[in-house]
Amino acid sequence: MRLNAFLARAGVASRRKADELIKAGKVTVNDAPGELNTFVERTDVVRVDGRKVGKSALRHVLLVKPRGTIATASDPRGRPTVVDLVRGEIRVVPVGRLDRDTTGVLLLTNDGPLAHRLSHPRYGIEKVYVADVEGEPGDEALAALATGLELEDGRTAPAGVRLLGPSQIELTLHEGRNRQVRRMLEAVGHPVVRLRRSRYAGLPAGRLRAGDWRELTRDEVRRLRQLVGLS
Ligand code: URA
Repeated sequence: MRLNAFLARAGVASRRKADELIKAGKVTVNDAPGELNTFVERTDVVRVDGRKVGKSALRHVLLVKPRGTIATASDPRGRPTVVDLVRGEIRVVPVGRLDRDTTGVLLLTNDGPLAHRLSHPRYGIEKVYVADVEGEPGDEALAALATGLELEDGRTAPAGVRLLGPSQIELTLHEGRNRQVRRMLEAVGHPVVRLRRSRYAGLPAGRLRAGDWRELTRDEVRRLRQLVGLS
């Protein structure tokens, strides 16, 4: 794999930052200076500032994403990302996306196969959202959300819908299309005012407040693996 991908996977830095380390001459491969186009194999010895880079341990983190942060590994415009919020030696990246203005439960990990399956539509991982909306949705709107409605990228699958207040809806989805909740609610005439994800794959925020995070327990990781057939 390419040297920057190796460094990112080992938890050293994002690919972009890894490129900067390489350009700054801080990375060696088998004691020769690493280049941007260097490819590395398992058997190669990679060092950053002279320190050997090993395969890092797996890490799984649950974060309650605050409003205004970007849910990607790095932002080309340098805006704060969710990765900046999680301290620790082992770098983790978000599983799937949440919009910049969406808050709530987000999983971050360096466990590639698990992340891949959790975000793959085939596994239909459950996501629960609470949306404050404009107006007061009636039976017709709620029924359309529940049975499925036409969006520009196709019809939505049946969803769980619960009215929590006159202008507050809980939606349970097994899909994860771009801005799906916002587009669904817009389509029924009740645009989102505020959006929070309250559960992801059965994991609730619990006592965590916006910006807080914690490591998943061994049992939680085991359950996630079972959910996607990786146990
Ligand atoms: N649906 C949205 O519209 N936004 C999110 O952040 C997540 C789901």
